[in-house]
Amino acid sequence: MKSLPRLGVNIDHIATIRNARGGEHPDPVAGAYTAIRAGADGITAHLREDRRHMRDDDMVRLQLLCQSENVPLNMEMAATSDMLAIALNLRPKAVCIVPERREERTTEGGLDVAAGHNHIAPISRALKENGSRVSLFIEATEAQIRAASSTAAEVVEFHTGAYAHALDDGDHEKADFYLETFRQSAKLASDLGLEVHFGHGLTFDNVGAVAAIPECVELNIGHFIIGEAIFLGLEDAIAEMRHCVTEARAS
Ligand code: PXP
Repeated sequence: MKSLPRLGVNIDHIATIRNARGGEHPDPVAGAYTAIRAGADGITAHLREDRRHMRDDDMVRLQLLCQSENVPLNMEMAATSDMLAIALNLRPKAVCIVPERREERTTEGGLDVAAGHNHIAPISRALKENGSRVSLFIEATEAQIRAASSTAAEVVEFHTGAYAHALDDGDHEKADFYLETFRQSAKLASDLGLEVHFGHGLTFDNVGAVAAIPECVELNIGHFIIGEAIFLGLEDAIAEMRHCVTEARAS
């Protein structure tokens, strides 16, 4: 069988539920521990500027857990000086730089590396020199990929939100268009020496076509897994997602 993409489990929304009541339960770090036991290859967490889900102390506890379990922590962050200082101090194995707008409900689009190169490149370099592997969360376009390849980032993560929305709307033609774009973009990124990840809006139903892209090395999935954990339990939700990914690669 072809090698399987790694599954990074994004635990932000365990913290969303905790924060709805302002207490300590459910603890996202306990969720990360369960996810690791269930076979997550990595833990992803987004420290937002407004701290709407993860908090600073969560990130510290996650880093300690991931280090002791020998599982990479992938910290998602905006390209700001405050976040850079936190990431340099925390030293997670991986950092994914994402765009952030306070009023958005979730990360709605990719980072504009082409326009923001002069701002993003030094942040990427500082993180890399500090020992974190940098990924840029971008739309799958040639301009963004080429811009990303001229930074210190070693990874690009393609935003799959529009693909997921197209399928939600029943627009298979549009979804196929996005998939073809992902295939070509993944090839270009890989030819330029970038590792290729995908994430956002992925579910049991739509993950297969993305996981089947040969250059796909990692998938980062959060909202659906945490939502499905209500019905299946977190371990079974992760196991089922892994099963979908494995099936896609086997066929
Ligand atoms: N990858 C990145 C870079 C993200 O910012 C997010 C969360 O918005 C995800 C993956 C996971 O997306 P979702 O929660 O929709 O699975």
